Amino acid sequence: MRKKIIAGNWKMHLLADSALELARGIAEDLKDVQEVEIAIFPPSPYLILMKEVLNGTPVKYGAQNMYFEEKGAFTGEISPGMLKDIGCSLVLIGHSERRKIFNEPDSLLNRKLKTALEFQLLPYFCIGETLEERESGKLFKVIETQLKEGLAGISEKQLESVVVAYEPVWAIGTGVVATPEQAQEMHAFIRDWFRKNYSEKTAENIRILYGGSIKPDNIQGLISLKDIDGGLVGGASLKLESFTQLVRYSR
Ligand code: PGA
Repeated sequence: MRKKIIAGNWKMHLLADSALELARGIAEDLKDVQEVEIAIFPPSPYLILMKEVLNGTPVKYGAQNMYFEEKGAFTGEISPGMLKDIGCSLVLIGHSERRKIFNEPDSLLNRKLKTALEFQLLPYFCIGETLEERESGKLFKVIETQLKEGLAGISEKQLESVVVAYEPVWAIGTGVVATPEQAQEMHAFIRDWFRKNYSEKTAENIRILYGGSIKPDNIQGLISLKDIDGGLVGGASLKLESFTQLVRYSR
């Protein structure tokens, strides 16, 4: 039985006070929720503040990005050891904004994934097609390539510590959510890819989140689908009420 996950990606939003207030609110309001795993990805400067607020609560937290080297002359980058040091247990790898705006290719994401696993940071590996790729019928090929190249050399055992997030680029921040049929179709395709390339067990156990314009009024239609194990949420994770509703509706 795969445990559902609701994860909030705060992107480059909030300042220290509002970030702390939101994290405290989440920890307090959801302290009794056991059926759903709760995670947040605050902006990096505020991660260190999360330790105090979230320690001893079921809310996990992590960074939105990291570098694959342990240390060195990499101005502006954050190492996996630093993230561990400040209590992170998770990291987003390959969010479409990193792929698109910061030109992160699959080969780089593969190195980041491997390093995250080495440091016992559980990666949420994000994949997704653009509208153009969907409309031209290339969507399954695109997803397959992202999986193949991003996960190259990652063992079945390591996959026990990986979460996949399918986020169609055209649905992120647009208000256009994938229909339940579109989402389920792709999730089933992804699960099947794991079945073919790893094993039945991996396919059954790996958690595949949907992301892209999730709101309290559409979460139930998505989370009830066979192959959707939760949501990676941007906009609706920035407000305490909508985030807590998403978690409650996912139970
Ligand atoms: P959104 O973002 O919920 O605002 O569409 C999702 C994401 O980028 O993870």
